[in-house]
Amino acid sequence: MDIEPLITAEQIEDKLADLGGQITTDYRGKDVLLVGVLRGAFMVMADLARHIDLPVEFDFMAVSSYGASTQTSGVVRILKDLDEEIEGRHVLIVEDIIDSGLTLNYLMKSLNVRKPASLEIAALLLKEGIQRVPLEVKYVGFPIGPEFVVGYGLDYAGKYRNLPYVGVMGAEG
Ligand code: IMP
Ligand code: MG
Repeated sequence: MDIEPLITAEQIEDKLADLGGQITTDYRGKDVLLVGVLRGAFMVMADLARHIDLPVEFDFMAVSSYGASTQTSGVVRILKDLDEEIEGRHVLIVEDIIDSGLTLNYLMKSLNVRKPASLEIAALLLKEGIQRVPLEVKYVGFPIGPEFVVGYGLDYAGKYRNLPYVGVMGAEG
């Protein structure tokens, strides 16, 4: 299987430095709880956090969507909930990619119920114009097309998460 590079490791690094700087400015004087969505967001979480110059804490959630593996059904199952209470806290969800938006839409709703002081989203990749639900994403790394991408945390059938860049799956053979 060929992987066509789409976003280089260097471009990702530069962009995360940018976003980290913005987050540092926007949240100045506040404590931030970064919430990584497992498993895909682990790399973005680690690299973005290194560019945030604030007292941040880390927590993780693991979710899976029911239904076919390449299509999101919109029904999200929480496999691992947060360890921290988020009431009154500034929560920033860190996600690898937004496709239909259904996963984050669900997460936003279920976390909002817990009354955080603020709740925002940072996503490395946003598949442009194909969200099926309204979703406000405060920090976006790269808007991309609808193609299926792998690398930098993103998998296809569990593989390719370790690639240091983001690439598009090529034709087989
Ligand atoms: P959504 O609920 O449709 O926005 O899907 C979000 C989740 O689907 C992401 O967190 C990824 O785990 C997965 N996903 C969506 N598009 C891709 C892709 O192009 N490559 C790898 N995983 C993807
Ligand atoms: Mg994910």
